[in-house]
Amino acid sequence: MRAGNSTVIFNADAKADLGQVRLLTVPVEVSIRRCRFDDLPMLEWYSEDGHDTDVVLATYEAQSHGEAVMLVAEANGVVCGQAWIDLTRFALDCTGAIWAIHVTPCMRNVGIGTGLIAAAEETLRDMHFEHAELSVEKSNADAVRLYERLGYCRIPTTLSLDCAITSDPYPSWCRQINGFCASRCESSRIGQLTL
Ligand SMILES: CC(C)(COP(=O)(O)OP(=O)(O)OC[C@H]1O[C@@H](n2cnc3c(N)ncnc32)[C@H](O)[C@@H]1OP(=O)(O)O)[C@@H](O)C(=O)NCCC(=O)NCCS
Repeated sequence: MRAGNSTVIFNADAKADLGQVRLLTVPVEVSIRRCRFDDLPMLEWYSEDGHDTDVVLATYEAQSHGEAVMLVAEANGVVCGQAWIDLTRFALDCTGAIWAIHVTPCMRNVGIGTGLIAAAEETLRDMHFEHAELSVEKSNADAVRLYERLGYCRIPTTLSLDCAITSDPYPSWCRQINGFCASRCESSRIGQLTL
């Protein structure tokens, strides 16, 4: 770039420095609470084709029947994270299934995911569940690291389709959330082979 008689050469770092006018560190209060009806459109931020709308509505309906709990994280009136709990799927094992954990990208790595899981566990503990279970795609290293840091152990799983053993793309992690019983974390729903 020519400025007067002199040539100014910008390197990438200099451009980045010029781009940032001011750096702010702002305290933001994040509240984790049950999802309300008017939150639902905000839960669909990741839905491009409307496919997830049915799942969101069905889960909200399940919450109103006491079969699910939908937790949301809210910052400045905007939903920035969610964790849902299925209270019925593994109820016979006194286990609540935490799923659909999501934190909006610009709010990640500040503890909201950890807070959502802690709040989900607290909810289950209050309802006298003994274990919390999470499942995640094997390749989702960020989520697996988070779950294991929080004390979740992988449940050995065998899937058999037409007598063939196949890899489980969504293995489960489990954690005991009260002092009563550790059996579920040590057992498998279907088999005993870790794939
Ligand atoms: C997985 C996911 C929910 C984690 O949410 P998150 O809010 O970023 O989680 P946290 O902030 O609690 O923890 C993430 C990292 O930030 C770190 N962290 C937590 N609090 C922090 C803080 N106050 N300051 C700096 N770092 C912090 C954690 O130690 C962790 O570090 P790691 O990457 O080395 O493991 C998020 O990445 C996500 O929404 N992913 C897409 C959806 C998904 O994969 N969901 C899981 C399967 S259903």
